[in-house]
Amino acid sequence: MIEPRLAAPAAGHGAPAATALARLSVMNFLNEVAADYPRAISFASGRPAEAFFAIDAWLEGIPRYFEHLAARDGRSAADVARLVGQYGRTNGLINDLVAAQLFADDGVPCTPERVVITAGCQEALTLCVQALCSAPGDVVLTRNPTYIGITGIAALAGIELVPLDDGAGDTAGAIERAVGMLAAEGRRARALYLIPSFDNPTGDTLSTAERVAIIDACRRHGIVVLEDNPYGMFRFEGVAPPPMAALDRHGVVVYLGTYSKTLCPAVRIGCAVVPETLFGDAAASRALIAQLGVRKSFVTVNSSQLNQALVGGVLLAEQGSLERIVAPARQHYRRNRDLFVARLAEEFPAGCGVSWNCPEGGFFLTLELPFAFGQTEVARCADEFQVVPLPMSFFALDDSQDRRVRMAFSNVSEAQIATGVAQFARFVHEMRVGARCRTVLA
Ligand SMILES: Cc1ncc(COP(=O)(O)O)c(C=O)c1O
Repeated sequence: MIEPRLAAPAAGHGAPAATALARLSVMNFLNEVAADYPRAISFASGRPAEAFFAIDAWLEGIPRYFEHLAARDGRSAADVARLVGQYGRTNGLINDLVAAQLFADDGVPCTPERVVITAGCQEALTLCVQALCSAPGDVVLTRNPTYIGITGIAALAGIELVPLDDGAGDTAGAIERAVGMLAAEGRRARALYLIPSFDNPTGDTLSTAERVAIIDACRRHGIVVLEDNPYGMFRFEGVAPPPMAALDRHGVVVYLGTYSKTLCPAVRIGCAVVPETLFGDAAASRALIAQLGVRKSFVTVNSSQLNQALVGGVLLAEQGSLERIVAPARQHYRRNRDLFVARLAEEFPAGCGVSWNCPEGGFFLTLELPFAFGQTEVARCADEFQVVPLPMSFFALDDSQDRRVRMAFSNVSEAQIATGVAQFARFVHEMRVGARCRTVLA
């Protein structure tokens, strides 16, 4: 059995690498572009569509949750309301409802005591990465490009991210190679961060076979898989591969969930689900849960109990599943995806050097361009063509992504998609004409 090594709560790795911090500043740049060009159509941010936020109805559910707790604990609803207003249990209040919903909607096998409720998935990720990587030389493996949230945490905590060289789609093989390379340098992979369904930023999904192979490779090397699944409920078509947490027979996968996309980001409620036995060891699993709690108690103390009561009220009203709430939003995202790829096909005929994927769900797609698209290009695109795509290089751990772009289709209207894609096509055309003129003049 491979012993997982957990970090002491106070452990740290020293100063964040300058290059890692420089990578993060691109997000500020992007915010400024959006503010500087307010009329530009933005495909940059992957926000959920606001039209589906039923804030009033969800707020009305809070008393329902109070009544539920009152009946469960034999208290008055007024007593419960006061208790909810207090500081609360570090690891959460609504763990039972969350465990039931994760099983009902995502197929994640899960018990309340293995759930740690967090301030969004971002806190779950922060706690896990820091708990698992304690010593100098402990690294996190990721795909490349990857979600800026993991890049940011790692940079701030001074933990190195090592990109997997899985260009041919063989992530398990890339893990083996990375482990060998790290061992030769006296370093060790402690965790692998993955978004297996509808990846942010690429939109890609890992097949069941790939998931099983990755779990196997990680089991062999004592690497905890951090499975981040914010978009899993937004599948438009095809058969969903099981979540990695459901395929895991060896206690390899920590599942990270969030209500930011299924309800709304403002609830700031997410979770980490620790396996029953970590690499076959129940004590190691309990130790990790305790570690997450100790760390959380000094980060957010506990996740807002009022916000948990709101989520709890919704889960009670919906009888444990968010399917009914998510269905119309999923329709909207699907329609936007369809429209986006249809407009791309109209604007960029086959053989023109521009190509894209067609994700089976989620919020994002990837465009491949015949030229580099970075900060200069996004600023020009916003200024002259009134459209803001996101350079994939912003999510990259090296320069391999320079000709790729992430397009978020989640929070835009049909008209914005039609106009924005047409404007982007004009930009691409101008770039190519410019390149041809430079060639002729050279
Ligand atoms: C892959 C991924 N993980 C985590 C998050 C953050 O989620 P939360 O709002 O729950 O912190 C996002 C948000 O966009 C995301 O795309």
